[in-house]
Amino acid sequence: MTELLRIEGLTVTPVNEPEKRLVSNVSFTLEPGKTTCVVGESGSGKSLTALSVMGLLSTQLKLAQGKVIFQGQDLVGLSNDQMRKVRGGRIGMIFQEPMTSLNPVLTVGKQIGETLVVHQGLKGEALKSKVAALLEQVGIPANRANSYPDELSGGQRQRVMIAMSIACEPAMLIADEPTTALDVTVQAQILKLLDELKTRMNMAMLFITHDFGVVADIADNVVVMFRGEIVESGPVAEVLSNPKHPYTQALLACVPDAEGKKPLKPIDYAWLREGAAA
Ligand SMILES: Nc1ncnc2c1ncn2[C@@H]1O[C@H](COP(=O)(O)OP(=O)(O)OP(=O)(O)O)[C@@H](O)[C@H]1O
Ligand SMILES: [Mg+2]
Repeated sequence: MTELLRIEGLTVTPVNEPEKRLVSNVSFTLEPGKTTCVVGESGSGKSLTALSVMGLLSTQLKLAQGKVIFQGQDLVGLSNDQMRKVRGGRIGMIFQEPMTSLNPVLTVGKQIGETLVVHQGLKGEALKSKVAALLEQVGIPANRANSYPDELSGGQRQRVMIAMSIACEPAMLIADEPTTALDVTVQAQILKLLDELKTRMNMAMLFITHDFGVVADIADNVVVMFRGEIVESGPVAEVLSNPKHPYTQALLACVPDAEGKKPLKPIDYAWLREGAAA
C-alpha cells in the first residue's frame, strides 16, 4: 500500500467556542487509484473535513488539532500562497453546485484554460489543444469550448468543473456531493466518469456523500461520520455486508431497494440513548 494522504486527529472548532468540536479526532488514509467515501447525514462534519484538508475553512472556524500529510508533507501551517499552488495543482476539487463556481460571462473553454495558464503557463495553440483534449476526456465535444455556462445542461456544467479539476493531473480529487443537484440518470453518468478518470489517472478520490447507494457504486473504502466523529471505517465490502455500528446499520436501512423505494422510517437513535455508541 502506498499512502498518498494521511489525516491524523483532525479537530475543528468555532474560533469563539473552542470547546465545541464540529469535527473531532478524524483520521484516515487515501491511496492512489482508490476512492474513499465519507458518508453521514447532514451536519455530520463531512464538508468541514474536506475543507480542512484543502485549507479552506472559513475564518470563523479553526483547525484546533490534526495533521494533513499529503505526499509526505504536512499541509497544515502552509501559507495561503503555498496552499493555492497545491489546490488546483496536486489536489483537484469539485463541489455540488457547478453554476455557482463557474463564471457566467466567460466561455467554458476560457475558464478551463485559466487553470492551465495559472498552474502550467500554457498559451496559444498548446493551450487551445489541451482545453479541447480535456473537454473530450469528460465527454463534451471540443467545439463546446465556445459555449457559456448557461448554454450547457447541469450535467455538462459538472463535466466542465471536472475538466477544470483534472486539468493539472492532480494526485488527488476531492468531490463534495458533486452529483446531489443532478437527476438520477445524469448522476449515474457523472459517477461513472469520475470512476473512470480516477482509474485512468491513478488518482486518489475523496468522495463525500450522504447516499449509501453511491458508496456501493464507487467506494473502495468507507468512512462513516456521525456528529463530527468517525463511528466506523473500512473496506466497502466489509462495511456494507457487516456494518458494526448501529448508526451505519441505520443509514444502510435507508438505502432504496431495487425498485427505488425508500423506507419511510426515520433513523432510529435508540442506540445513542442506550449508550451503545462505540
Ligand atoms: N462557519 C461555521 N460556524 C459554526 N458552525 C459551523 C460552521 N460551518 C459549519 N458548521 C457546523 O458544523 C457542522 C458540520 O458541518 P458540515 O458542513 O461539515 O456538515 P456536512 O456533513 O457536510 O453536512 P451536509 O451533508 O449538509 O453538507 C454542522 O453542525 C454545521 O452547522
Ligand atoms: Mg456538506
